[in-house]
Amino acid sequence: MDEDAEQEGLSVLRGKPVGGWGLLQIAGGTGLAAYTVWALVLMPGFRRVPLKLQVPYMPASSKQVSNVMTLLKGRSGKMVDLGSGDGRIVLEAAKRGFHPALGYELNPWLVRLSYIYAWRAAYHSRVSYRREDLWKVKLNDCSNISIFLAPSVLSLLESKLLAELPDEARVVAGRFPLPTWTPSAVIGEGIDRAWAYDIQSVREAVGGTHRGSDV
Ligand SMILES: C[S@@+](CC[C@H](N)C(=O)[O-])C[C@H]1O[C@@H](n2cnc3c(N)ncnc32)[C@H](O)[C@@H]1O
Ligand SMILES: *[C@@H]1O[C@H](CO)[C@@H](O)[C@H](O)[C@H]1NC(C)=O
Repeated sequence: MDEDAEQEGLSVLRGKPVGGWGLLQIAGGTGLAAYTVWALVLMPGFRRVPLKLQVPYMPASSKQVSNVMTLLKGRSGKMVDLGSGDGRIVLEAAKRGFHPALGYELNPWLVRLSYIYAWRAAYHSRVSYRREDLWKVKLNDCSNISIFLAPSVLSLLESKLLAELPDEARVVAGRFPLPTWTPSAVIGEGIDRAWAYDIQSVREAVGGTHRGSDV
C-alpha cells in the first residue's frame, strides 16, 4: 500500500484496535463501512482534495472516446486529459499521434492500471500518467485538452481554464458541457455527447476580461 492510502487507512481506523474487516462488521449499517470502502479502495489519493471537488471514477465508453477524438482531429503535439482514470483517452490520443499524451490522475491504482494498459498496447513510451491534483497543475502550456468530470466542479474549472490556457487552446468536454461557455462544435447524442471549446472565442464572448497572467 502506498503512503497516501496508508494515511487514509490510519485516519479511518484511528484509535480502533481492530482490523479493517472487523471494523466493517462493527460499523455495519452506520454508513462508516461504506465510507471506509470508499476512502480506502475507490478514492485513494483524494485526502487533500476538498469534498466538493471530488469527482468519482467513471470510465468513458468507446463512443465517448471516439467523439472526443473527433473533436481533436487535425490537432497534434501535446495532449492532456484532466482526471485520466484508466488512461483510455490518453492512450487513444497517443495512438492518434499526440505526443506527449499526458494524463493527470490522483488515484494511484488507476495510474498503475493506465500503465498496464499502455504496456499491453505497446504504447508505454508514448504516454505518461502523473499522479497529481488537476487543480494544482498549471495549464499554461497545454492547448489540446480533454475533460470528463462531474457538473459540480465545472464552473470552477471554467475559471481555471480561462485564467491559464493559451488562446489557441481547444478544450473537449465529455458527457457534461461547461456551464457558461458556448461550444464551437458539438457531436454525439445523450450521454455520448461531447463539446469542443476554442479558448479564443470563449474569451471574446466573455469580453476578454478573464485573460490570465502567464505565471
Ligand atoms: C469521470 S472519471 C473520467 C476518467 C477518464 N478521463 C475517462 O474518460 O475514462 C474522472 C477521473 O478524474 C479523477 N480525478 C478527480 N478529481 C481529480 C483531481 N483533483 N486530480 C486528478 N484527478 C482527479 C478521478 O479519479 C477519475 O478517475
Ligand atoms: C495542440 O494542437 C495544435 C494544433 O495541431 C498544435 O499547434 C499545438 O502545438 C498543440 N499543443 C501543444 C501544447 O503541443
